[in-house]
Amino acid sequence: MRALVYHGPGVKAWEDVPEPEIMADTDAIVRVETVTICGTDLHILKGDVPAVTEGRILGHEAVGTIVLAGPGVKTVTAGDRVLVSCITACGTCRFCRDGHSGQCLGGGGWILGHKIDGTQAEYVRVPFADTSTYPVPGGVPDEHILMLADILPTAYEVGVLNGGVQPGDVVAVVGSGPIGLSAITGARLFSPSHIVAIDLADSRLEAAKQFGADVTVNNLTDDPLEVIRSLTGGLGADVAIEAVGVPATFELAVQLSRPGGRIANIGVHGEPATLHLEEQWIRNITITTGLVDAYSTPTLLRLVTSGQIDAGRFITHRFALDEFNEAYDVFARAGETGALKVVLSR
Ligand SMILES: NC(=O)c1ccc[n+]([C@@H]2O[C@H](COP(=O)([O-])OP(=O)(O)OC[C@H]3O[C@@H](n4cnc5c(N)ncnc54)[C@H](O)[C@@H]3O)[C@@H](O)[C@H]2O)c1
Ligand SMILES: [Zn+2]
Ligand SMILES: [Zn+2]
Repeated sequence: MRALVYHGPGVKAWEDVPEPEIMADTDAIVRVETVTICGTDLHILKGDVPAVTEGRILGHEAVGTIVLAGPGVKTVTAGDRVLVSCITACGTCRFCRDGHSGQCLGGGGWILGHKIDGTQAEYVRVPFADTSTYPVPGGVPDEHILMLADILPTAYEVGVLNGGVQPGDVVAVVGSGPIGLSAITGARLFSPSHIVAIDLADSRLEAAKQFGADVTVNNLTDDPLEVIRSLTGGLGADVAIEAVGVPATFELAVQLSRPGGRIANIGVHGEPATLHLEEQWIRNITITTGLVDAYSTPTLLRLVTSGQIDAGRFITHRFALDEFNEAYDVFARAGETGALKVVLSR
C-alpha cells in the first residue's frame, strides 16, 4: 500500500510500505477513506516531537471502513464504517475507566502517527478497535465526521469544558486556528454573552467572526486587555482559552482573566512560559491544561448529526489521497492559502 512516511525533520514521502496486519486480537484494520492533517503533524515534521521516529506513518484522524477485525473485537466488524479517533483507548485501565483515555496506561492514548503507524495511509491498524472507533452515523458527509477525530473534542474538552464556560460569560479565545475556531464553536453551545477572538492574522479573525465570535481583536495593532476590560466593567474575562501554544499567548490568557476566572490552556507548548505567581496568587484563578481524552466524541457526534454544530465549515481544501505533498504545502502555508482543515479522500 501507499502511506505518508516520516523520514526525520523536514522529510516525508508518499511511498510503498507493507500493509498493516492484526497484531493483537483487539486490533482492526481500517481502509482509510477520508483523512486530514493536524497542526501537530507540522510540529512533528519540524522535529518538535522526538517520540516520532524515522519510518513512522503520520496521521491520527480518519474515517474509513473496517476490512478485518481481530477475534477479540466485539462491537464493530468488517464492513462497518467508523471514525478513527486521535485517542486510542484500552478501555480497562484506571484512566480509561475515568474517561481520561488520553492518559491510557494500557497501551492507548495518543499513539497513532506518534508511537505506532498512523492514518495518512491507504490502511491503518487500530488497536482496541471497540473503544477507539465510533460507528459513522448516516446522513452526514464523512468529511464532517472527520472533524470529530481531533479538533472538535480537543477544543470542547480541554478549552470549553475545562474552562467551565457558563451562560452569560465573557470568553476570550486566544488564537483562531482550527482549534481556536473549534473552541468558539463549543463555547457558543453555552450562550456566552461575548466571545472575543484574538489573533495576529486578519484572515483568521475573519473566520472567527463567521464561526460566531462577537468581537475580534488583532493583537498586533490593538490591545486585547483594553477590549476585554471595556466589556467587563474592568474585571476581565470569565474564561480565557489559550489556543496557540507559545509563551506570549499563555501569559496573555492569564492577564485577560478576571479574579476567580478560569484559564484553559489547549496549546502544545515547546518552551517554558512564565506564570507571574507574584501577581496572580491573590486573584483566585484556576489554570487547566490537557491532552484531549475524546470522552466527548459521542456527544459531539450527536451535535453534528442534529445540525447544532456545522463541522463542514472547517474544510477549506480538498485533495485526492495521493496528493499529500500538495495538501501539506497548502496546510503549512495557512496564512497565504486561508487553509483551516484540508481533507484528502479516495
Ligand atoms: N491539547 C491538545 O490535546 C491539543 C490537540 C490538538 C492541537 N493542540 C494545539 O493547539 C494549538 C492550536 O492548534 P491549531 O491547529 O489551531 O494551530 P494554528 O497554528 O493553525 O493556529 C494558531 C493561531 O494562533 C495565531 N497566533 C500565533 N501567535 C499568536 C499571538 N502571539 N497572539 C495571537 N495569536 C497568535 C496564529 O495566527 C494562528 O491563527 C497548537 O499548539 C496545537 O498543537 C492541542
Ligand atoms: Zn491532532
Ligand atoms: Zn486505558
